[in-house]
Amino acid sequence: MNQVYDKVLKCYESIKDRLPFQPRVALVLGSGLGNYADTMDVRGEISYSEIEDFPVSTVPGHAGKFIFGYIKDVPVVCMKGRVHYYEGYPVTDVVLPTRLMKLMGAEILFLTNASGGINPSFHAGCFMLIKDHISCFAPNPLIGANIDQLGCRFPDMSTVYDPELQRIIREKAKECDIPLKEGVYVQLTGPSFESPAEIQMLHGLGADAVGMSTVVEAIAANHMGMRICGISCVANLAAGMTDQPLTHEEVQEAANQAAPMFTRLVTEAIGAF
Ligand code: HPA
Repeated sequence: MNQVYDKVLKCYESIKDRLPFQPRVALVLGSGLGNYADTMDVRGEISYSEIEDFPVSTVPGHAGKFIFGYIKDVPVVCMKGRVHYYEGYPVTDVVLPTRLMKLMGAEILFLTNASGGINPSFHAGCFMLIKDHISCFAPNPLIGANIDQLGCRFPDMSTVYDPELQRIIREKAKECDIPLKEGVYVQLTGPSFESPAEIQMLHGLGADAVGMSTVVEAIAANHMGMRICGISCVANLAAGMTDQPLTHEEVQEAANQAAPMFTRLVTEAIGAF
């Protein structure tokens, strides 16, 4: 048996009788966006700390639990808090919650995060629809024996972010009058922010926003055949693009300020999925 898969199955077995419903959408809330769950019609919660061997986040603003609730009529499992590779967990643990939500029954993965804007037309507080990603600076979560029960050895990554889900998000942003940028998200490991030279390099490679999450989860979800979409809240302009040094507090503050618009957009989009 595969140890990584065994661990996911064990987590699933330990919580499967506590699920209030089979979720259709799995929603991952990024930095500062965790209060989104307050707007849901909540039917149940499971703290990560209650699940044996489950990776628990150590980052302020990422306190962890699964929250189950309805968004409009859609049953959603929401991750309030996620773990990051920089916390020291193996990347297979970083994607374990994603795999677990698929076992719960979720077909769609909606990823959100806070990022640094690289595209010069971006500004702090804007939203970016993720159209594609660059993964090669983060460890690939599929390294190791393939989990055949979940997906194939060499999964295609040519359309990770589902075009129909993108269309719905674009349409809802327009209807709600919420400006929505689009672009490529690159994941680095962190935890240090990038240097200005690194940001220049990433710009040259075609990245529009940079962060420390999301891509590994998208790869694991794509491997399992989930439909994926993502929105990044650009919390700051990336290093070297302003005179200001970057702080985690600034990232959280910007995400908090953007929260009402973010809430509206996510709710409308999920209602139309
Ligand atoms: N870099 C990396 N991750 C981030 C940033 C950034 O500038 N802002 C928010 N998350």
